[in-house]
Amino acid sequence: MARKLLRGTVDLHGNPLSVLWEEDRILALGPEIPETEADEVLEVEGTVFPGFIDPHVHLRTPGQEHKETLETGARAAAHGGFTTVVTMPNTDPPLDRPELLRGLYEEARQLPVDVRFAACLSVGRKGRAIPEMPLLAEAGAVAFTDDGSWLEDAHVAYQAYAMAAALNRPVLSHPEDPRWHRGGVAHQGERALKLGLPGIPRESEELAVVRDLALARLTGVRLHLQHISAHTSLPHIRRAVAEGLPVTAEVTPHHLLFTDEALETFDPRFKVNPPIREEADRDALRKLLPETWTVMGTDHAPHTVFEKEFDWLEAPFGLSWLDLAFSALYTHLVRPGLVDLATLVEAMTLRPARLLGLGDRGVLKEGKRADLVVVDLAATWQPTPRNTFSRGKNNPLMGEMLFGVVRLTVAAGEVAYRG
Ligand code: DOR
Repeated sequence: MARKLLRGTVDLHGNPLSVLWEEDRILALGPEIPETEADEVLEVEGTVFPGFIDPHVHLRTPGQEHKETLETGARAAAHGGFTTVVTMPNTDPPLDRPELLRGLYEEARQLPVDVRFAACLSVGRKGRAIPEMPLLAEAGAVAFTDDGSWLEDAHVAYQAYAMAAALNRPVLSHPEDPRWHRGGVAHQGERALKLGLPGIPRESEELAVVRDLALARLTGVRLHLQHISAHTSLPHIRRAVAEGLPVTAEVTPHHLLFTDEALETFDPRFKVNPPIREEADRDALRKLLPETWTVMGTDHAPHTVFEKEFDWLEAPFGLSWLDLAFSALYTHLVRPGLVDLATLVEAMTLRPARLLGLGDRGVLKEGKRADLVVVDLAATWQPTPRNTFSRGKNNPLMGEMLFGVVRLTVAAGEVAYRG
């Protein structure tokens, strides 16, 4: 059995930290582990973290492989330091049948990182009836979601949330009630008004959050509220958490980094659902990060260059993140002192592991899965369409100088990426 040793690395606080593992399990951690303990030594300079876990990505398989495949998505994940990702079922066809899921898991066995699948909350994501959820759970669904849209019908949603609770799977809800806007393409505020763009008000999210929290109270389901964008949603979530409901709020890199001032650029790479809102929203989300019930999810949404060159009204919603999320957040939040490194890392490791019930990962500890990433925090790189692995090049930070270069990603004990 091969034992591998990672040396030359430091921990979060800059203290030397080596990691020894055998197969897919961590055997020991310490400032100095003798080389004689290992069959193979990986000498890498940088800070070692648990592998990042993203509970919200779109790998577009099946049906939209021109935007992303499981393989390009997994390679982008490894490049960005992610060792586990959960891909959404808004595919073509949608993932609402167990045999589909089983086929995808078969394909995913070859991938460099752990790709898990979430299944639909409603048949065909149409919101009218629930799918065979017990069979989907048996086929490996780690969560249930209609992401891309909200399950509007409260009766169907009640059934789906209750069944998810019985199966001990979280519901990942996209809380956005389309009846508030129909056809909105940007945050409904002064900037969209001035530009004549149809708006999406905060209320469309806030009221959906309130309904979802009521259902969480009724059913006891573990409820993860995806991509929270509006500061007005937060008091409701806080109250639910204080009440003891098992609720988590997702923050995305784009809602933490940008504001609707970006509308002035007319650059559709900033177009996303829910929309990027105002400074007050962005700042409230930044302040939320230290709360242990916030979880980073990138909502990695690859689209083709061609589609993202349409004008703002026509271009599809979403940003591509897997290759560069950590570098972007480290550069724009941690380095300026807005968020501390330990908090960011926890939101990208331990908290998503808990949400997904993956108790064997999310921390560096003896006995846990050997999932880790080494980042050279002092080094810089410039993401470009050529040096990123995702097929989606739709991120406005392309070309910008970012701190934090991933040197090594190890997933289940195997090198998934080495820079
Ligand atoms: O901007 C988004 N893009 N939001 C979603 O909810 C779905 C996603 C996609 O699938 O492209």
